[in-house]
Parts: sequence; C-alpha cells; structure tokens
Amino acid sequence: MLSTRIAGIGMYVPEQVFTNDDLKEYMETSDEWIQERTGIQQRRYAHRTEETTTTMGVEAAKIAIERAGTTAADIDFIIFATLSPDYYFPGCGVLLQRAMKMKEIGALDIRNQCSGFVYAISVADQFIKTGMYKNILVVGSEKHSFGLDFSTRGRNISVIFGDGAGAVVLQPAQKEGQGILSTHLHSDGESAELLAMYNPGTHANHWVKDKLADFPDAPIADMFMSHEMIDKAQNFPYMDGPSVFKKAIVKFPEVVMEALAKNNLSTTDLSMLIPHQANLRISQFVQQKLGLGDHQVHNNIQKFGNTTAASVPIALCEAWEEGKIKEGDLVCLAAFGSGYTWASALIRW
Ligand code: UT7
Repeated sequence: MLSTRIAGIGMYVPEQVFTNDDLKEYMETSDEWIQERTGIQQRRYAHRTEETTTTMGVEAAKIAIERAGTTAADIDFIIFATLSPDYYFPGCGVLLQRAMKMKEIGALDIRNQCSGFVYAISVADQFIKTGMYKNILVVGSEKHSFGLDFSTRGRNISVIFGDGAGAVVLQPAQKEGQGILSTHLHSDGESAELLAMYNPGTHANHWVKDKLADFPDAPIADMFMSHEMIDKAQNFPYMDGPSVFKKAIVKFPEVVMEALAKNNLSTTDLSMLIPHQANLRISQFVQQKLGLGDHQVHNNIQKFGNTTAASVPIALCEAWEEGKIKEGDLVCLAAFGSGYTWASALIRW
C-alpha cells in the first residue's frame, strides 16, 4: 500500500501583534500572570473585517501548494479543520474551494478543535493510501479573536488564544519508508462540557444542566440564540482550565508513546515532537515525562498563543523553515483538547 508524505507546508499569521500588556486595556490581568501560567508573551489577531478563518487558510494553503510543486488546480480534496468557522454552516472548506478557484472537488470540514489538524491528517492519509486522491490540501485555521470575552469575566480563556493558519499538501510518498507511519485517534466525551462553547446550539440545556450543575445562571436555552444568553455572556467559550490541564498532561505522553510503540520505536528515535500549543507548561511537562531534550520539541506558543486547529501546522511549518526538520527525521505530531479528543501522527520526513 502507498504511504503518505507531507509534500508542502505553509503558515500564515496576521500582522497585528497583541502583547499581554495590550490585554490589560480590556481586563484585569498581567504580563506576569500570563507568562507564568502559560508561557505566552504575545499573540496575533486577524484584521476584524478584512480577514476571516478562510482567508487566513487560503494564505497558508498558497504557500503549501507552491512548496509541494503543484497548483490549486491539481488539488483533488480539501480538509479544513477549525472551531471558528466563517459561517455556522456551510463550512470553510467550500469557501476555500471558491476563493482558490479550485475544481469541483470534495471539501470536508473537521470540528475537532485542538486535535482537528491531526485528525484531518489521519483522514487524508486513508484517502491517499487507498489511491483515491493524490493531492490533498489539509488546512487548520482559527480566528479566535472575534469570539472571545475580553472582559475580566473571560480572562482565563481570552488571554490564551490567538489567530492564524497552517496548511499542508499530502501526496503519495516517493521513497520506501517515507511518510506517515501511523495515526492514533481518541475521544472521551465524559467531560465534553468542561471546554466548550454551548451557544448557539440545539442542546436546550439537556446536557449542560446535568454536567455543569454549577454553571452560573444557566438559562433555559429553549432557543438557538436569545438576548438572555448574550446578556449573560453565554455565547462565549467556557473552560475549566485546571481539569483540562490535568487530563492533557496524561493523554499527551500516552498518545506519543502509543505511536512510537506501534512502530517499534522509542523516544530516543524521535527527531522532533510538535505538540499542540495549548500551554507552554503542558508542553514542558510532556517533554519532561518523555525524557526529551530541548532539540526534540518545538514550541512557539510564546509568540502566537494557542491557535487550536492551526497550532500544530504553524509549529510544524516554523520548525521546518528553521531547518529543524530534515529528510529522514522522525517527527511526531500530538494534540489534546476539547471533547476531549486527542491524537498523534508519526511521520518519517
Ligand atoms: O487548547 C485547548 C486546551 N486547553 C488547555 O489545555 C488549557 C489547560 N489549562 C490551562 O492552561 C490553565 O488551567 C490556565 C492557563 C487556563 C489557567 O491557569 P491556572 O493556573 O489553572 O489558573 P486557574 O484557572 O486555577 O485560576 C487561578 C487564579 C484565579 O483567581 P483566584 O480564584 O485564585 O483568585 C483566576 O481568577 O487566576 C485567576 N485568573 C487570572 N488572573 C490574571 C484566571 N485568568 C487570569 C488572567 N489574569 N488572565
């Protein structure tokens, strides 16, 4: 069976830099708190009206396509991962297909939040391996800045997230042993409400009232969207940060080890781990738990914050551009987030 390689990679981050001190204009926070708890120094925010999740994805895709030595006309399938789509529906995949004037190819959107890009890589890998497609564009893009609560009430979430996009073009591998060795996908919906954006939605509090007994002033959500929800700021994401942190530091190392074990490899074989950039403290914990050296892990959350579905391709692209990933290297992508869902992909570059 064919294997799948990353033939081209690109990233795009918006021009506007927002430092921790800039956030102090909107909420009670401090550079010290944010750096100490998350490692983040700054993040990028998209232009409010000129840039969308799709337009940023297009910019990253253009670079990935060019580096793959192909053209938009040759792409035969699109997979777009995001939690901040331009529209509730249709998804960003079709908007990208239109914007890039691609053929009438299939476009699939993936709603897996932080692990969305790794899930997308896994899906693409199956299509390449079976020979169904030869040039798949996978994009992860987020415009978080448009949907965060910038008041002190939302500070535990809003300081973390940033905007940006990353993209790869996947093609059949050209050499024996090259490409994606295996992918590993997991979920545990027991804690779905601990990192979630409930509204607008159709839940009518069916789940929320049982799972989040202490959710402040949960309205009877008998409408898709109501004034009451907006008045109570319940149209913003909710996160129980400490619970997410505790689960992440268990599942990240587990899914990396699962990928290595599946291929009879160990952490000493690993050239580069690209962890989803959730929190620098999480990445450091994972690095320590796996016994990896600094040269084996790439982090850039300090500059870009947590860009959810875009964070893995942005970090991968940056590491590759800096010459930290070369042909023959063993690279592991790993992600954990809302759902919970978590995943890894082991790649021989
Ligand atoms: O990619 C998606 C997956 N998400 C994650 O992996 C996130 C995992 N969780 C985390 O990264 C951490 O839990 C956070 C960075 C979100 C929060 O750090 P923490 O050390 O868990 O803080 P906390 O939520 O327990 O809050 C501690 C205190 C609270 O004050 P009190 O109650 O002790 O007086 C918060 O109100 O820090 C306060 N706080 C802040 N203070 C200043 C929360 N956010 C801020 C803030 N600035 N931005």
